[in-house]
Amino acid sequence: MNRTNPIGIFDSGIGGLTVVKRLTSFLPNENVIYFGDTARVPYGSKSNETVIEYSIQDAQFLSKKNIKLLIVACNTASSVAIDVLKEKFNLPVIGMIEPGAKLALEKTKNKRIGVIGTYATIGNSAYAKQLRTIDPATQVFEKACPLFVPLAEEGWTHHDATKLIAEEYLEEFKRHEIDTLILGCTHYPILADIIHEVMGDDVALIDSGTAASLVVENHLDGRGLKNSSNMLGTHHFFVSDVPKKFKEIAERFLGREIEHVERVDPDELV
Ligand code: DGL
Repeated sequence: MNRTNPIGIFDSGIGGLTVVKRLTSFLPNENVIYFGDTARVPYGSKSNETVIEYSIQDAQFLSKKNIKLLIVACNTASSVAIDVLKEKFNLPVIGMIEPGAKLALEKTKNKRIGVIGTYATIGNSAYAKQLRTIDPATQVFEKACPLFVPLAEEGWTHHDATKLIAEEYLEEFKRHEIDTLILGCTHYPILADIIHEVMGDDVALIDSGTAASLVVENHLDGRGLKNSSNMLGTHHFFVSDVPKKFKEIAERFLGREIEHVERVDPDELV
């Protein structure tokens, strides 16, 4: 394996770009190949079997591109498919759940942690299980917040409607007196300002993408696999549908122009 080989990242669609953004702020020289399954999004409302099947196909697509490490940016896929992916692929595989849970446990003082995510992530209690495995004394409160995904994609980051919905969703966490809230879905960091406004200064927000990027950096450092080039890394994006819309949203998410977006026929993945 070579230092200049790319890092592969997949998500159910565009949300994983929040992870790309974090990753490139820590590791700007890394080459990245991203796959967004825009033809089959959302994963968050699908069965575990389907999410596992799609995740294997997504990872297969990236593994053929000589990647040195695979990041499962999608929290839903990380929740249900991480073990299968680790077993099936002869690659380091880093998901969102363990890094996010560990960072939350570092931050919490009262051991009362909230988790928000898709129906699948919350239904599988992925974060809750991980948190309790590491520290059984942790109290975990979970809630699915599906409307946050389209709001983030619409760019309604500071909209009154988003604030109202956030208040409705997050109200119960205040009663539970959490001091830490895990943003357990790729899209939620985009709404962090409003979530912070609703939860107040005393609740630490955990961005799993940041936590996972640090794990990736340590992993590459520890194995001498960090790209030592002083050039900015190249980023190639592949999507299974509507590359034009992906490009538009991606440029808004990342705050820069992106060049390479290619469509992959979903039949090629199967
Ligand atoms: N990427 C998904 C996640 O992080 C959210 C969108 C979806 O439901 O596919 O869970």
